[in-house]
Amino acid sequence: MSSAVEGAPAVLARVPSGMHINGEWVAALDGEEFETLDPATGRVIARVPRARAGDVARAVAAAREAFDGGRWGESVSARDRARILHRMSDLVRERRDELVEIEILDCGKPLADARGDIDEVAFMFEYYAGWATKIAGDIPPVGTDALSLVVREPVGVCGLIVPWNYPMLMAAQKVAPALATGCTVVLKPAEQTPLTALCMAAIAEEAGLPAGVLNVVTGFGVEAGEPMLTDERVDKISFTGSLAVGRHIQRTCADQLKRVTLELGGKSPNIIFGDAPLDDAIVGSAAGIFGNQGEVCSAGSRIFVHSSVYDRVLEGMVAEAGAIRLGSGLDESTTMGPLVSARQRDRVMAYVDGAPADGARHVFSGAMPESDEFADGFFVAPSVFEVPDHSPAIAREEIFGPVATVLRFDEVEEVVRLANQTEYGLAAAIWTRDINLALNTARRVRAGVVWINDSQPAPSESLWGGYKQSGVGRELGPYALDAYLETKQIYVNLGG
Ligand code: NAI
Ligand code: MG
Repeated sequence: MSSAVEGAPAVLARVPSGMHINGEWVAALDGEEFETLDPATGRVIARVPRARAGDVARAVAAAREAFDGGRWGESVSARDRARILHRMSDLVRERRDELVEIEILDCGKPLADARGDIDEVAFMFEYYAGWATKIAGDIPPVGTDALSLVVREPVGVCGLIVPWNYPMLMAAQKVAPALATGCTVVLKPAEQTPLTALCMAAIAEEAGLPAGVLNVVTGFGVEAGEPMLTDERVDKISFTGSLAVGRHIQRTCADQLKRVTLELGGKSPNIIFGDAPLDDAIVGSAAGIFGNQGEVCSAGSRIFVHSSVYDRVLEGMVAEAGAIRLGSGLDESTTMGPLVSARQRDRVMAYVDGAPADGARHVFSGAMPESDEFADGFFVAPSVFEVPDHSPAIAREEIFGPVATVLRFDEVEEVVRLANQTEYGLAAAIWTRDINLALNTARRVRAGVVWINDSQPAPSESLWGGYKQSGVGRELGPYALDAYLETKQIYVNLGG
Protein backbone atom coordinates (compact mmCIF):
# COMPACT_ATOMS: atom_id res chain seq x y z
CA MET A 1 0.00 0.00 0.00
CA SER A 2 1.19 3.50 -0.74
CA SER A 3 -0.08 7.05 -0.51
CA ALA A 4 0.02 7.49 -4.29
CA VAL A 5 -3.18 8.14 -6.21
CA GLU A 6 -4.06 6.07 -9.29
CA GLY A 7 -2.10 7.10 -12.34
CA ALA A 8 0.60 8.88 -10.29
CA PRO A 9 4.27 8.41 -11.29
CA ALA A 10 5.47 4.89 -10.44
CA VAL A 11 8.09 6.00 -7.91
CA LEU A 12 5.35 7.18 -5.55
CA ALA A 13 4.49 3.55 -4.88
CA ARG A 14 7.54 3.74 -2.60
CA VAL A 15 5.83 6.20 -0.24
CA PRO A 16 4.17 4.28 2.61
CA SER A 17 0.45 4.63 3.15
CA GLY A 18 -0.61 6.37 6.37
CA MET A 19 1.38 8.30 8.92
CA HIS A 20 3.82 6.79 11.38
CA ILE A 21 2.80 6.60 15.04
CA ASN A 22 4.33 4.24 17.59
CA GLY A 23 5.89 2.06 14.92
CA GLU A 24 2.66 1.65 12.98
CA TRP A 25 1.34 3.08 9.74
CA VAL A 26 -2.01 4.55 10.63
CA ALA A 27 -4.87 6.61 9.23
CA ALA A 28 -6.17 9.71 11.01
CA LEU A 29 -8.65 8.87 13.79
CA ASP A 30 -11.50 10.38 11.77
CA GLY A 31 -10.20 8.80 8.55
CA GLU A 32 -9.73 12.14 6.82
CA GLU A 33 -7.01 12.70 4.24
CA PHE A 34 -5.65 15.57 2.22
CA GLU A 35 -4.03 15.76 -1.20
CA THR A 36 -0.51 16.68 -2.16
CA LEU A 37 0.22 18.06 -5.62
CA ASP A 38 2.98 18.04 -8.18
CA PRO A 39 3.57 21.80 -8.48
CA ALA A 40 4.88 21.47 -12.06
CA THR A 41 1.52 20.22 -13.33
CA GLY A 42 -0.92 21.06 -10.53
CA ARG A 43 -1.99 17.40 -10.53
CA VAL A 44 -2.80 15.45 -7.35
CA ILE A 45 -0.13 12.80 -6.77
CA ALA A 46 -0.85 11.38 -3.31
CA ARG A 47 -3.23 11.38 -0.35
CA VAL A 48 -2.02 11.39 3.23
CA PRO A 49 -3.79 11.38 6.61
CA ARG A 50 -5.04 14.73 7.88
CA ALA A 51 -3.86 14.66 11.49
CA ARG A 52 -5.71 16.69 14.10
CA ALA A 53 -5.35 17.12 17.86
CA GLY A 54 -6.32 13.52 18.69
CA ASP A 55 -3.78 12.08 16.27
CA VAL A 56 -1.05 14.40 17.50
CA ALA A 57 -1.86 13.39 21.07
CA ARG A 58 -1.32 9.74 20.11
CA ALA A 59 2.02 10.55 18.53
CA VAL A 60 3.14 12.61 21.52
CA ALA A 61 2.07 9.81 23.89
CA ALA A 62 4.15 7.34 21.86
CA ALA A 63 7.20 9.60 21.91
CA ARG A 64 6.77 10.20 25.67
CA GLU A 65 6.43 6.49 26.37
CA ALA A 66 9.48 5.68 24.21
CA PHE A 67 11.50 8.27 26.11
CA ASP A 68 10.29 7.59 29.66
CA GLY A 69 10.02 3.84 29.13
CA GLY A 70 13.64 3.60 28.07
CA ARG A 71 13.35 2.67 24.42
CA TRP A 72 15.81 5.45 23.55
CA GLY A 73 17.87 8.09 25.29
CA GLU A 74 19.80 7.21 28.42
CA SER A 75 18.65 3.59 28.29
CA VAL A 76 20.13 2.89 24.86
CA SER A 77 23.89 3.11 24.60
CA ALA A 78 25.35 5.88 22.49
CA ARG A 79 26.99 3.19 20.32
CA ASP A 80 23.65 1.61 19.55
CA ARG A 81 22.15 4.99 18.69
CA ALA A 82 25.13 5.69 16.43
CA ARG A 83 24.74 2.33 14.67
CA ILE A 84 21.10 2.98 13.85
CA LEU A 85 21.86 6.49 12.57
CA HIS A 86 24.61 5.06 10.35
CA ARG A 87 22.15 2.54 8.95
CA MET A 88 19.68 5.33 8.23
CA SER A 89 22.43 7.15 6.34
CA ASP A 90 23.22 4.02 4.30
CA LEU A 91 19.55 3.49 3.45
CA VAL A 92 19.17 7.10 2.28
CA ARG A 93 22.19 6.56 -0.02
CA GLU A 94 20.77 3.27 -1.34
CA ARG A 95 17.45 4.96 -2.14
CA ARG A 96 18.91 8.21 -3.37
CA ASP A 97 17.36 8.12 -6.83
CA GLU A 98 13.83 7.39 -5.65
CA LEU A 99 14.03 9.96 -2.84
CA VAL A 100 15.26 12.57 -5.33
CA GLU A 101 12.32 11.85 -7.62
CA ILE A 102 9.75 11.85 -4.81
CA GLU A 103 11.11 15.15 -3.48
CA ILE A 104 10.92 16.76 -6.94
CA LEU A 105 7.36 15.53 -7.54
CA ASP A 106 6.27 16.95 -4.18
CA CYS A 107 8.05 20.33 -4.10
CA GLY A 108 9.20 21.05 -7.66
CA LYS A 109 12.93 21.74 -7.35
CA PRO A 110 15.38 20.83 -10.18
CA LEU A 111 17.33 17.55 -10.20
CA ALA A 112 20.69 19.04 -9.25
CA ASP A 113 19.16 20.74 -6.20
CA ALA A 114 17.22 17.65 -5.14
CA ARG A 115 20.32 15.46 -5.49
CA GLY A 116 22.24 17.91 -3.36
CA ASP A 117 19.50 17.80 -0.71
CA ILE A 118 19.28 14.01 -0.50
CA ASP A 119 23.07 13.59 -0.44
CA GLU A 120 23.20 16.07 2.43
CA VAL A 121 20.44 14.15 4.25
CA ALA A 122 22.59 11.01 4.05
CA PHE A 123 25.60 12.94 5.31
CA MET A 124 23.55 14.55 8.10
CA PHE A 125 22.69 11.13 9.59
CA GLU A 126 26.29 10.00 9.21
CA TYR A 127 27.62 13.19 10.80
CA TYR A 128 25.34 13.01 13.85
CA ALA A 129 25.92 9.25 14.15
CA GLY A 130 29.51 10.27 14.84
CA TRP A 131 28.46 12.77 17.49
CA ALA A 132 26.28 10.31 19.43
CA THR A 133 29.36 8.73 21.02
CA LYS A 134 31.14 12.02 21.67
CA ILE A 135 28.69 13.96 23.79
CA ALA A 136 30.62 14.25 27.03
CA GLY A 137 30.23 16.20 30.25
CA ASP A 138 32.72 17.94 32.47
CA ILE A 139 34.22 17.75 35.96
CA PRO A 140 34.92 21.29 37.17
CA PRO A 141 37.21 21.51 40.22
CA VAL A 142 35.07 22.44 43.24
CA GLY A 143 37.32 21.72 46.22
CA THR A 144 39.08 18.80 47.83
CA ASP A 145 36.16 17.04 49.49
CA ALA A 146 33.60 17.07 46.73
CA LEU A 147 33.14 15.96 43.15
CA SER A 148 30.95 17.91 40.78
CA LEU A 149 29.88 16.11 37.62
CA VAL A 150 28.35 18.11 34.81
CA VAL A 151 26.42 15.73 32.56
CA ARG A 152 24.48 16.24 29.34
CA GLU A 153 21.06 14.63 29.05
CA PRO A 154 18.51 14.58 26.22
CA VAL A 155 15.85 17.27 26.59
CA GLY A 156 13.09 14.69 26.02
CA VAL A 157 10.20 14.71 23.57
CA CYS A 158 10.78 17.08 20.65
CA GLY A 159 8.12 18.47 18.32
CA LEU A 160 9.85 19.23 15.01
CA ILE A 161 7.92 21.42 12.58
CA VAL A 162 9.47 21.89 9.15
CA PRO A 163 8.76 23.82 5.93
CA TRP A 164 8.40 22.84 2.26
CA ASN A 165 11.44 24.42 0.59
CA TYR A 166 13.94 21.67 1.55
CA PRO A 167 11.49 19.08 2.89
CA MET A 168 13.71 16.11 3.69
CA LEU A 169 16.81 18.17 4.42
CA MET A 170 15.08 20.43 6.95
CA ALA A 171 13.59 17.33 8.59
CA ALA A 172 16.99 15.60 8.77
CA GLN A 173 18.62 18.77 10.11
CA LYS A 174 16.43 18.43 13.20
CA VAL A 175 15.78 14.67 13.41
CA ALA A 176 19.44 13.58 13.18
CA PRO A 177 20.79 15.64 16.12
CA ALA A 178 17.62 14.95 18.14
CA LEU A 179 18.08 11.19 17.76
CA ALA A 180 21.84 11.38 18.33
CA THR A 181 21.35 13.05 21.69
CA GLY A 182 18.70 10.52 22.71
CA CYS A 183 15.54 12.56 22.26
CA THR A 184 12.32 11.13 20.87
CA VAL A 185 10.49 12.94 18.13
CA VAL A 186 7.18 13.92 16.61
CA LEU A 187 7.94 15.30 13.15
CA LYS A 188 5.39 17.41 11.31
CA PRO A 189 6.30 18.01 7.66
CA ALA A 190 4.74 20.93 5.77
CA GLU A 191 1.31 20.17 4.32
CA GLN A 192 2.61 20.96 0.81
CA THR A 193 5.42 18.37 1.03
CA PRO A 194 4.70 15.45 3.37
CA LEU A 195 6.08 12.57 1.29
CA THR A 196 9.80 12.32 2.05
CA ALA A 197 9.13 12.63 5.80
CA LEU A 198 7.09 9.44 5.49
CA CYS A 199 9.98 7.85 3.60
CA MET A 200 12.29 8.91 6.44
CA ALA A 201 10.07 7.10 8.95
CA ALA A 202 10.14 3.98 6.78
CA ILE A 203 13.93 4.17 6.61
CA ALA A 204 14.17 4.61 10.39
CA GLU A 205 11.95 1.58 10.92
CA GLU A 206 14.08 -0.52 8.59
CA ALA A 207 17.25 0.71 10.30
CA GLY A 208 15.97 -0.68 13.59
CA LEU A 209 14.88 2.50 15.36
CA PRO A 210 12.54 1.36 18.16
CA ALA A 211 8.81 2.09 17.84
CA GLY A 212 7.71 5.49 19.10
CA VAL A 213 11.13 7.15 18.79
CA LEU A 214 10.38 8.87 15.46
CA ASN A 215 6.71 9.57 14.81
CA VAL A 216 5.50 11.47 11.74
CA VAL A 217 2.16 13.28 11.68
CA THR A 218 0.98 14.72 8.37
CA GLY A 219 -1.34 17.69 8.47
CA PHE A 220 -1.86 21.43 8.49
CA GLY A 221 -0.14 23.91 10.78
CA VAL A 222 -3.06 24.85 12.99
CA GLU A 223 -4.44 21.29 13.13
CA ALA A 224 -1.30 19.18 13.46
CA GLY A 225 1.42 21.64 14.54
CA GLU A 226 -0.40 23.77 17.07
CA PRO A 227 -1.39 20.88 19.41
CA MET A 228 2.30 20.13 20.02
CA LEU A 229 2.87 23.67 21.28
CA THR A 230 0.44 23.27 24.17
CA ASP A 231 0.92 19.58 25.05
CA GLU A 232 2.71 19.31 28.40
CA ARG A 233 4.35 16.07 27.36
CA VAL A 234 6.37 17.89 24.71
CA ASP A 235 9.62 19.35 26.10
CA LYS A 236 10.96 21.14 23.07
CA ILE A 237 9.80 22.66 19.80
CA SER A 238 12.16 23.20 16.90
CA PHE A 239 10.61 25.12 14.02
CA THR A 240 11.71 26.35 10.61
CA GLY A 241 9.33 28.60 8.69
CA SER A 242 7.83 32.06 8.58
CA LEU A 243 8.50 34.87 11.04
CA ALA A 244 4.78 35.19 11.82
CA VAL A 245 4.41 31.55 12.85
CA GLY A 246 7.77 31.66 14.64
CA ARG A 247 6.61 34.54 16.82
CA HIS A 248 3.38 32.70 17.57
CA ILE A 249 5.32 29.58 18.58
CA GLN A 250 7.66 31.52 20.87
CA ARG A 251 4.69 33.19 22.56
CA THR A 252 2.65 30.02 22.94
CA CYS A 253 5.56 27.97 24.22
CA ALA A 254 6.30 30.60 26.87
CA ASP A 255 3.32 29.35 28.90
CA GLN A 256 5.08 26.09 29.71
CA LEU A 257 8.56 27.47 29.16
CA LYS A 258 9.10 24.84 26.50
CA ARG A 259 12.53 24.95 24.93
CA VAL A 260 12.31 26.58 21.51
CA THR A 261 14.62 26.74 18.50
CA LEU A 262 13.47 28.95 15.63
CA GLU A 263 14.91 29.23 12.12
CA LEU A 264 12.94 31.98 10.42
CA GLY A 265 13.16 34.12 7.35
CA GLY A 266 15.58 36.62 5.96
CA LYS A 267 16.15 39.53 3.63
CA SER A 268 19.82 38.88 3.22
CA PRO A 269 22.23 41.45 1.80
CA ASN A 270 24.57 40.46 -1.03
CA ILE A 271 27.28 43.12 -1.29
CA ILE A 272 29.40 43.49 -4.43
CA PHE A 273 32.33 45.87 -3.93
CA GLY A 274 34.10 47.61 -6.83
CA ASP A 275 37.10 45.25 -6.71
CA ALA A 276 35.03 42.04 -6.63
CA PRO A 277 35.91 39.11 -8.91
CA LEU A 278 33.01 40.21 -11.10
CA ASP A 279 32.21 37.10 -13.13
CA ASP A 280 32.05 35.01 -9.97
CA ALA A 281 30.10 37.70 -8.16
CA ILE A 282 27.45 37.87 -10.89
CA VAL A 283 27.03 34.11 -11.23
CA GLY A 284 27.08 33.64 -7.44
CA SER A 285 24.69 36.50 -6.70
CA ALA A 286 22.24 35.24 -9.33
CA ALA A 287 22.42 31.72 -7.88
CA GLY A 288 21.93 33.26 -4.43
CA ILE A 289 18.52 34.66 -5.36
CA PHE A 290 17.36 32.35 -8.18
CA GLY A 291 18.57 29.02 -6.75
CA ASN A 292 15.75 26.75 -5.49
CA GLN A 293 13.32 29.20 -7.19
CA GLY A 294 14.25 31.78 -4.57
CA GLU A 295 12.44 29.69 -1.97
CA VAL A 296 15.38 29.96 0.40
CA CYS A 297 15.43 31.57 3.85
CA SER A 298 18.97 32.84 3.28
CA ALA A 299 18.42 34.00 -0.33
CA GLY A 300 20.59 36.99 -1.20
CA SER A 301 17.55 39.07 -2.05
CA ARG A 302 19.05 42.55 -1.58
CA ILE A 303 21.91 42.92 -4.05
CA PHE A 304 24.02 45.99 -3.18
CA VAL A 305 26.40 46.97 -5.98
CA HIS A 306 29.15 49.57 -5.90
CA SER A 307 28.58 52.39 -8.41
CA SER A 308 31.82 51.63 -10.27
CA VAL A 309 30.57 48.19 -11.37
CA TYR A 310 26.82 48.76 -11.14
CA ASP A 311 25.99 48.73 -14.86
CA ARG A 312 28.04 45.63 -15.55
CA VAL A 313 26.48 43.74 -12.64
CA LEU A 314 22.94 44.74 -13.59
CA GLU A 315 23.59 43.58 -17.15
CA GLY A 316 25.09 40.36 -15.80
CA MET A 317 22.10 39.68 -13.55
CA VAL A 318 19.76 40.11 -16.51
CA ALA A 319 21.87 37.72 -18.59
CA GLU A 320 21.81 35.14 -15.77
CA ALA A 321 18.04 35.46 -15.35
CA GLY A 322 17.63 35.20 -19.12
CA ALA A 323 19.58 31.94 -19.25
CA ILE A 324 17.34 30.20 -16.72
CA ARG A 325 15.18 27.41 -18.13
CA LEU A 326 11.90 26.73 -16.36
CA GLY A 327 10.28 23.31 -16.44
CA SER A 328 9.76 20.10 -14.54
CA GLY A 329 12.47 19.49 -11.98
CA LEU A 330 12.72 15.94 -13.35
CA ASP A 331 14.03 17.21 -16.70
CA GLU A 332 17.86 17.34 -16.70
CA SER A 333 17.87 20.63 -18.65
CA THR A 334 15.62 22.48 -16.20
CA THR A 335 17.40 25.04 -14.05
CA MET A 336 14.35 26.42 -12.23
CA GLY A 337 11.26 24.52 -11.14
CA PRO A 338 7.79 25.76 -10.18
CA LEU A 339 7.05 27.35 -6.82
CA VAL A 340 5.62 24.96 -4.27
CA SER A 341 1.95 25.94 -4.45
CA ALA A 342 -0.59 28.17 -6.16
CA ARG A 343 -0.71 30.21 -2.96
CA GLN A 344 3.04 30.81 -2.97
CA ARG A 345 2.94 31.70 -6.69
CA ASP A 346 0.16 34.22 -6.04
CA ARG A 347 2.05 35.72 -3.08
CA VAL A 348 5.19 36.19 -5.18
CA MET A 349 3.27 37.54 -8.20
CA ALA A 350 1.53 40.09 -5.99
CA TYR A 351 4.99 41.45 -5.08
CA VAL A 352 6.15 41.43 -8.71
CA ASP A 353 2.99 43.07 -10.06
CA GLY A 354 2.88 45.68 -7.31
CA ALA A 355 6.57 46.65 -7.47
CA PRO A 356 6.54 49.27 -10.28
CA ALA A 357 3.83 51.36 -8.60
CA ASP A 358 5.78 51.01 -5.35
CA GLY A 359 8.91 52.72 -6.69
CA ALA A 360 10.87 49.79 -8.14
CA ARG A 361 12.03 49.72 -11.77
CA HIS A 362 11.25 46.48 -13.55
CA VAL A 363 14.40 45.65 -15.50
CA PHE A 364 13.74 42.12 -16.75
CA SER A 365 11.60 39.00 -16.49
CA GLY A 366 12.63 35.62 -17.89
CA ALA A 367 10.62 33.17 -19.99
CA MET A 368 7.86 30.89 -18.71
CA PRO A 369 7.90 27.21 -19.70
CA GLU A 370 6.60 26.66 -23.22
CA SER A 371 4.99 23.24 -23.06
CA ASP A 372 1.24 22.98 -22.46
CA GLU A 373 2.03 20.23 -19.99
CA PHE A 374 2.94 22.98 -17.51
CA ALA A 375 -0.01 25.28 -18.15
CA ASP A 376 -1.44 24.48 -14.69
CA GLY A 377 1.91 24.47 -12.89
CA PHE A 378 2.89 27.11 -10.33
CA PHE A 379 5.72 28.72 -12.31
CA VAL A 380 7.06 32.22 -11.77
CA ALA A 381 9.65 33.59 -14.20
CA PRO A 382 12.81 35.04 -12.60
CA SER A 383 12.82 38.82 -12.49
CA VAL A 384 15.24 41.66 -11.79
CA PHE A 385 14.26 45.00 -10.25
CA GLU A 386 16.25 48.14 -9.50
CA VAL A 387 15.30 49.89 -6.28
CA PRO A 388 16.52 53.33 -5.12
CA ASP A 389 16.39 52.40 -1.42
CA HIS A 390 14.37 50.25 0.96
CA SER A 391 11.07 52.01 0.44
CA PRO A 392 9.50 49.51 -2.03
CA ALA A 393 8.04 46.47 -0.24
CA ILE A 394 10.08 44.11 -2.47
CA ALA A 395 13.25 45.59 -0.96
CA ARG A 396 12.12 45.01 2.64
CA GLU A 397 9.87 41.96 2.86
CA GLU A 398 10.75 38.32 2.42
CA ILE A 399 9.30 37.30 -0.95
CA PHE A 400 10.47 33.67 -1.12
CA GLY A 401 10.52 33.63 -4.90
CA PRO A 402 12.90 34.40 -7.82
CA VAL A 403 12.83 38.18 -7.48
CA ALA A 404 16.16 40.05 -7.38
CA THR A 405 16.34 43.64 -6.17
CA VAL A 406 19.47 45.58 -7.06
CA LEU A 407 20.56 48.68 -5.08
CA ARG A 408 23.45 51.05 -5.78
CA PHE A 409 25.97 52.22 -3.14
CA ASP A 410 29.13 54.32 -2.98
CA GLU A 411 30.66 54.10 0.49
CA VAL A 412 31.51 51.19 2.78
CA GLU A 413 29.83 52.91 5.75
CA GLU A 414 26.71 53.39 3.68
CA VAL A 415 26.46 49.77 2.57
CA VAL A 416 27.06 48.39 6.07
CA ARG A 417 24.30 50.63 7.40
CA LEU A 418 21.93 49.60 4.60
CA ALA A 419 22.76 45.89 4.95
CA ASN A 420 21.77 46.05 8.61
CA GLN A 421 18.62 48.05 7.90
CA THR A 422 16.29 45.06 8.31
CA GLU A 423 14.52 43.22 11.11
CA TYR A 424 16.17 40.04 9.82
CA GLY A 425 19.72 38.82 10.34
CA LEU A 426 20.11 35.39 8.81
CA ALA A 427 22.84 35.63 6.19
CA ALA A 428 24.99 37.95 4.06
CA ALA A 429 27.34 37.59 1.10
CA ILE A 430 30.34 39.85 0.46
CA TRP A 431 32.24 39.97 -2.83
CA THR A 432 35.69 41.62 -2.88
CA ARG A 433 39.36 40.77 -3.44
CA ASP A 434 40.39 42.91 -0.45
CA ILE A 435 40.73 40.59 2.55
CA ASN A 436 40.62 43.40 5.11
CA LEU A 437 37.50 44.89 3.59
CA ALA A 438 35.90 41.43 3.43
CA LEU A 439 36.59 40.55 7.06
CA ASN A 440 35.83 44.00 8.45
CA THR A 441 32.49 44.01 6.65
CA ALA A 442 31.77 40.43 7.74
CA ARG A 443 32.29 41.45 11.36
CA ARG A 444 29.99 44.45 11.07
CA VAL A 445 27.05 42.74 9.36
CA ARG A 446 24.51 41.58 11.95
CA ALA A 447 23.85 38.11 10.55
CA GLY A 448 24.39 34.53 11.70
CA VAL A 449 26.06 33.37 8.47
CA VAL A 450 28.39 35.44 6.27
CA TRP A 451 29.83 34.22 2.97
CA ILE A 452 32.89 35.83 1.41
CA ASN A 453 33.12 35.42 -2.37
CA ASP A 454 30.35 32.85 -2.34
CA SER A 455 26.65 32.61 -1.60
CA GLN A 456 24.53 29.91 0.04
CA PRO A 457 26.85 27.04 0.98
CA ALA A 458 25.58 25.51 4.23
CA PRO A 459 27.94 22.69 5.23
CA SER A 460 26.33 20.43 7.82
CA GLU A 461 29.55 20.35 9.87
CA SER A 462 29.41 24.09 10.54
CA LEU A 463 26.78 26.49 11.89
CA TRP A 464 23.41 27.86 10.81
CA GLY A 465 21.05 30.33 12.45
CA GLY A 466 19.92 33.89 12.63
CA TYR A 467 20.58 37.14 14.47
CA LYS A 468 17.69 39.48 15.28
CA GLN A 469 14.29 38.27 14.07
CA SER A 470 15.74 35.52 11.90
CA GLY A 471 15.66 33.10 14.75
CA VAL A 472 16.56 31.74 18.15
CA GLY A 473 19.31 29.17 18.67
CA ARG A 474 21.62 27.50 16.20
CA GLU A 475 21.49 24.42 14.02
CA LEU A 476 24.03 22.23 12.20
CA GLY A 477 27.43 21.06 13.40
CA PRO A 478 28.05 20.54 17.09
CA TYR A 479 25.92 23.63 17.78
CA ALA A 480 22.70 21.76 17.02
CA LEU A 481 23.39 19.32 19.84
CA ASP A 482 22.83 22.06 22.42
CA ALA A 483 19.29 22.44 21.15
CA TYR A 484 18.49 18.87 22.16
CA LEU A 485 20.40 18.63 25.45
CA GLU A 486 19.86 19.70 29.03
CA THR A 487 22.85 20.13 31.34
CA LYS A 488 22.85 18.79 34.90
CA GLN A 489 25.20 19.06 37.85
CA ILE A 490 25.60 16.02 40.10
CA TYR A 491 27.39 17.01 43.31
CA VAL A 492 29.05 14.32 45.39
CA ASN A 493 30.16 15.01 48.97
CA LEU A 494 33.42 13.13 49.47
CA GLY A 495 34.06 14.50 52.94
CA GLY A 496 31.56 12.35 54.86
P1 NAI B 1 4.59 28.62 7.61
O1 NAI B 1 5.52 29.24 8.58
O2 NAI B 1 3.13 28.77 7.81
O3 NAI B 1 4.85 27.02 7.52
C1 NAI B 1 5.98 26.35 8.02
C2 NAI B 1 5.55 25.15 8.87
O4 NAI B 1 4.85 25.61 10.02
C3 NAI B 1 4.58 24.18 8.18
O5 NAI B 1 4.89 22.86 8.57
C4 NAI B 1 3.24 24.60 8.74
O6 NAI B 1 2.27 23.57 8.70
C5 NAI B 1 3.61 24.94 10.17
N1 NAI B 1 2.66 25.80 10.89
C6 NAI B 1 1.91 26.81 10.37
N2 NAI B 1 1.16 27.37 11.34
C7 NAI B 1 1.43 26.72 12.50
C8 NAI B 1 0.97 26.82 13.84
N3 NAI B 1 0.06 27.72 14.20
N4 NAI B 1 1.47 26.00 14.77
C9 NAI B 1 2.39 25.07 14.44
N5 NAI B 1 2.86 24.91 13.19
C10 NAI B 1 2.39 25.72 12.21
O7 NAI B 1 5.00 29.15 6.16
P2 NAI B 1 4.11 29.18 4.82
O8 NAI B 1 2.76 29.75 5.08
O9 NAI B 1 4.16 27.85 4.19
O10 NAI B 1 4.94 30.21 3.91
C11 NAI B 1 4.70 31.60 4.00
C12 NAI B 1 6.00 32.38 3.97
O11 NAI B 1 6.82 31.99 5.06
C13 NAI B 1 6.89 32.16 2.75
O12 NAI B 1 6.51 32.94 1.68
C14 NAI B 1 8.25 32.53 3.29
O13 NAI B 1 8.42 33.93 3.24
C15 NAI B 1 8.19 32.08 4.72
N6 NAI B 1 8.85 30.76 4.89
C16 NAI B 1 10.12 30.74 5.36
C17 NAI B 1 10.78 29.53 5.46
C18 NAI B 1 12.18 29.47 5.96
O14 NAI B 1 12.88 28.52 5.67
N7 NAI B 1 12.62 30.41 6.73
C19 NAI B 1 10.17 28.26 5.04
C20 NAI B 1 8.80 28.39 4.61
C21 NAI B 1 8.20 29.62 4.53
MG1 MG C 1 3.34 18.69 -2.98
